[in-house]
Amino acid sequence: MGNNKIWQGNSTFILAAAGSAVGLGNIWKFPYMVGSNGGSAFVIIYLICIFAIGFPVMVSEILIGKYVRKSPINSLKKLSEEFKLNTNWKFLGILGALAGVTILSYYSVFAGMAFSYVFKIFPQSLENPSQYSSDYFLYLSSSPLNLVFWHTIFLFFTSIIVGLGVVRGIGRSVNVLMPFLFFFIILVSIYSSYIGDLEKTISFLFNPDFSVITPQIVISAMGQAFFSLSVGMGAIMAYGAYMPEKQMIGKTVLVIILLDTFVALAAGIAIFPIVFSNSSLQISAGPGLIFETLPVAFYSLPLGSIFSCIFFILITIAALSSSISLLEPFTAWIEETGKMNRISIVFFLSILIWILGLGSIFSFNIWSELKLFGLTFLGLLDYLTNNIMLPLGGFFVTVLIGWVLPKEFLKEHLKLTETFFYWFYLTLRFIAPSSIILIFLYSAF
Ligand code: PHE
Repeated sequence: MGNNKIWQGNSTFILAAAGSAVGLGNIWKFPYMVGSNGGSAFVIIYLICIFAIGFPVMVSEILIGKYVRKSPINSLKKLSEEFKLNTNWKFLGILGALAGVTILSYYSVFAGMAFSYVFKIFPQSLENPSQYSSDYFLYLSSSPLNLVFWHTIFLFFTSIIVGLGVVRGIGRSVNVLMPFLFFFIILVSIYSSYIGDLEKTISFLFNPDFSVITPQIVISAMGQAFFSLSVGMGAIMAYGAYMPEKQMIGKTVLVIILLDTFVALAAGIAIFPIVFSNSSLQISAGPGLIFETLPVAFYSLPLGSIFSCIFFILITIAALSSSISLLEPFTAWIEETGKMNRISIVFFLSILIWILGLGSIFSFNIWSELKLFGLTFLGLLDYLTNNIMLPLGGFFVTVLIGWVLPKEFLKEHLKLTETFFYWFYLTLRFIAPSSIILIFLYSAF
């Protein structure tokens, strides 16, 4: 079906999808969520969600995109026409595209902050680097002007790349950038384990105490699994449209999921040892965790400022390869109407996203006391998108692929072995949708 934008070779799709998945969700969010939600019990629930829910959702999304080869909204529309289904399935795509731009509005604020650290050099011979680092983060986040500046720059980069067309832009850049990212995250985790408290970190990450689990923690772990894998909103579905025809979906998804999980755990190992060995740093510091800890680790390193600069460049790149995929579904959809060119679409969307982002910026400072359901504007957007919109999107994707479309269609297009298909189908039809519903109910009552 009508799309000539296909990536060459298997690795580009893997790197682009891994580029979308690996981002602030792994390096910034995962460690602070683990830190504020009781450690390893959270990690275990998260891992179960990744494999039992994230896997079938990602396979289903790629399958739809690859089969129809259009933007998520039109792929769902065409699919329902072909199989004579209810036309409302396209709303699943619309919900996703909206979730994408909403997430991007605050994603860009944090990515901008990370980018600003590229230029931050710690003064020499500080008496208390951890204190200095916490104070600096406070200074940065309490100034709306500073944050607006970096938010604008990051969003500008994102729009340029999406505006120029993702296929050549992303395809080429992920091939160069992702290997660097993997290399650096490994290097930093080895370094922190060496200078920090590794023993305490391992027990914090892998020695579960299930008594700390609350319904809130379970829903956050599920939300984080969706967010980290970029599933539930069509980003991966949009990329599915560019996947080479011969590439196998099942194996590819497994590789992407393993890479994503690996980077999240490595980020934990890069950050926690430093927190545990510094009494002025708090494990439950929340969103500021990475900004307050990593610079401290780099500070004590020979050539630390260069190291820190490179690392924050890589975080920015990881964020950029994700933010592009947040903007792509909406952009591709409007582009298909043929009424506007890509550049103008991206320009208008970015202005909307930029304005929405101001709300998140003010949540750090002038609106920090403004609460709705006990949450700031930023907290509310984060909760709505990750804990409600993405899981809901994922739920409907599994219903569509697992219950509405014929089994034969799946068998033909997935080409899995008998045993693997059996397990996959079981997870897709029963385990994933029922777990999402149960977690929703559990957290609501
Ligand atoms: N997965 C990305 C991250 O971990 C965020 C993202 C979510 C990107 C949803 C696309 C879609 O940072």
